Amino acid sequence: MDKFLITGGRPLEGRVVISGAKNAALPALTAALLTDQRVVLHNIPRVRDISTLRSLLEDLGVDAAVTHEAHGNRIEIEARRLLNPVAPYELVKQMRASVLVLGPLVARFGQARVSLPGGCAIGVRPINLHLKGLEKLGASISFDHGYVNARANGLRGTNFHFDTISVTGTENLMMAATLADGVTVLENAAREPEVQDLADLLNKMGAIIEGAGTPEIRIRGVSRLHGAEHTIIPDRIEAGTFLTAAAITGGELVVERCNAEHLTAVLAKLDSVGVQVVRDADKGPNGGHTLIVKARSKLSAHDVTTQEYPGFPTDMQAQYMTLMTQAEGSCVITETIFENRFMHALELARMGADITVNGRRAVVRGKTSLSGAKIQASDLRASASLVLGGLAAEGETLIDRVYHIDRGYERIEEKLTQVGAKIARISESD
Ligand code: EPU
Repeated sequence: MDKFLITGGRPLEGRVVISGAKNAALPALTAALLTDQRVVLHNIPRVRDISTLRSLLEDLGVDAAVTHEAHGNRIEIEARRLLNPVAPYELVKQMRASVLVLGPLVARFGQARVSLPGGCAIGVRPINLHLKGLEKLGASISFDHGYVNARANGLRGTNFHFDTISVTGTENLMMAATLADGVTVLENAAREPEVQDLADLLNKMGAIIEGAGTPEIRIRGVSRLHGAEHTIIPDRIEAGTFLTAAAITGGELVVERCNAEHLTAVLAKLDSVGVQVVRDADKGPNGGHTLIVKARSKLSAHDVTTQEYPGFPTDMQAQYMTLMTQAEGSCVITETIFENRFMHALELARMGADITVNGRRAVVRGKTSLSGAKIQASDLRASASLVLGGLAAEGETLIDRVYHIDRGYERIEEKLTQVGAKIARISESD
């Protein structure tokens, strides 16, 4: 298992280029299962979750050919046939987003067998809404040996209301409904940019989807979809993480190829705590936006509550907590999306942070000086917050289990090194 060794206390300076969004690339890859024609995707981030999904597609009998491009990878998929409609436990346990094959497989091939994901480091994370929605679309659902089986002899359009807003739930049902007979209306749907990006791809493939990005998505089913070419949107969470890294080290970074519109809540919060972010001349949709971030010498504590998009993202909560350890005053961080997403708080406390967790609320009292320590990553975003802690701390921080961060951040240690951080990967074999 790899570790990161970070020597803290160096302000970050320079330019960093943001990769494609992992959480948009994953559903886009599974959307290719909806057609027998070629789907070409650009700006795919080089992260482990994408490799895991490629292994799953290969298990299903579908090739996903990868080519290196200037910005991210190009992946070409042609799902002519299906050898085996199974998403096995070994892959689903590594990555819950494997469940995104369910909707496309049932819609196109009439069958899917997917391992139930089970619990996760950040919460229970059931998939009941994915299954309820598929049942409403006419699939029959059964369970055996830890797997869910979905079968259908053609799906039918329906109205489905999400009791809880679910990102991948919305994506799964939206994909399934593209090939259903008639109109499907998804109510209380997720509005995340990744959902919109998936709808854009599906529409390029011949689907008829309106309202993605609003709480009501309307999908008119078609008999078949065709091939398409699509560029994945920038990763708003990676961008937010680098903005925070600049702020916490008192540095100045130019963050390129991001989409400022997807970061509204994060930028507003950074502004209120004293982090100045200005938007440079725009380079258009493909070149993305350039943001210049500069921290004021003094940060002030502000409460935050995570919410579904367009609210403050749960995927930025851990990084924000680390930032708040360096702000003057106390603040309350309330996590409303996942019930157990404060694992990083205890590790930050080991570095000297003053944080009290009570259920879904954490009180951070600052400013505390952090000191380097041996700490352990528990999930993807928690790992990012610990890297930020290491950058801000005095002395050396050794972070164990950084495979979590490799799931969703492309070469984070290289990107940080380029802007002046002292961070090294220590591999088991070293
Ligand atoms: N939920 C249910 N039933 C369901 C589905 C969800 O009760 O059938 C609940 C969950 O337990 C949770 C809430 O609904 O309390 C929201 O979960 P959601 O389904 O939206 O999460 P997800 O789709 O599994 C995606 C991202 C996560 C991100 C969340 C919230 C992908 C592949 N993953 O997960 O990303 O935190 O939305 O924005 O898109 C990450 O990148 O680190 C990450 C965890």
